[in-house]
Amino acid sequence: MTTIGLIGAGNIGSQIARQAVRHGYDVVVSNSRGPETLADLVAELGDHARAATAAEAAEAADIVVVTIPFHAISEIPAEPLAGKPVIDTNNYYWERDGHRAELDDFSETSSEQLQARLVDSHIVKAFNHIYASAITEDAQDAGTSGRRALAVFADDEAAKGTVAAFIDAIGFDTVDGGALSESWRIQRDTPGYGPRLTAPELSTALAAAAE
Ligand SMILES: NC(=O)c1ccc[n+]([C@@H]2O[C@H](COP(=O)([O-])OP(=O)(O)OC[C@H]3O[C@@H](n4cnc5c(N)ncnc54)[C@H](OP(=O)(O)O)[C@@H]3O)[C@@H](O)[C@H]2O)c1
Repeated sequence: MTTIGLIGAGNIGSQIARQAVRHGYDVVVSNSRGPETLADLVAELGDHARAATAAEAAEAADIVVVTIPFHAISEIPAEPLAGKPVIDTNNYYWERDGHRAELDDFSETSSEQLQARLVDSHIVKAFNHIYASAITEDAQDAGTSGRRALAVFADDEAAKGTVAAFIDAIGFDTVDGGALSESWRIQRDTPGYGPRLTAPELSTALAAAAE
């Protein structure tokens, strides 16, 4: 049984958790306030879910999901995530997160900054361009005509493949966007950010992105 550990259980984290349990995964959810504050979500998710601290969720996980406000990435405990695929759903919004010069001038991506923070983990950028509600509303079985696609970016090909297989299992095609340095192509204000796109449409949108 594959376990998904979620660091962050808000809009996006709770939706990924719902899709994961629907498709046979175990999930461990966490937030900043403590496991007791997640009792309602765990009750909704059922027997394949439990709440824990962020460190415990990471330790239990085969795949970790970091889905918190970007400014909080410095608070993530790095050691329990070492060696694991880590899905990075996060977006940099300077209005919320404060200005970071390297992100404002496109010389780095937010996913590269998360990779630098979690140096022994394998970051895979995904889910950052889909509205939280659509994670359950747009999910369809593999092979469905017109199925929505999500982009994946990573420097580690094995981790990218593991995460792409998870995304396929819970409802979406994937498009390989390349390395983390290319993930600016799916940041806010790019053509692929937000709309429901199939794999060919998303590939076109990634290619059309401009800094
Ligand atoms: N909302 C969307 O539709 C959407 C779509 C794509 C991508 N995103 C991106 O995905 C990320 C999460 O967005 P969201 O809308 O899900 O946010 P959200 O609803 O505000 O939830 C954030 C979650 O992160 C937790 N958290 C904050 N700091 C933490 C820490 N240090 N350790 C552990 N957990 C922590 C919060 O816990 P507490 O409540 O206990 O503080 C909460 O569970 C953001 O970077 C966002 O830009 C959002």
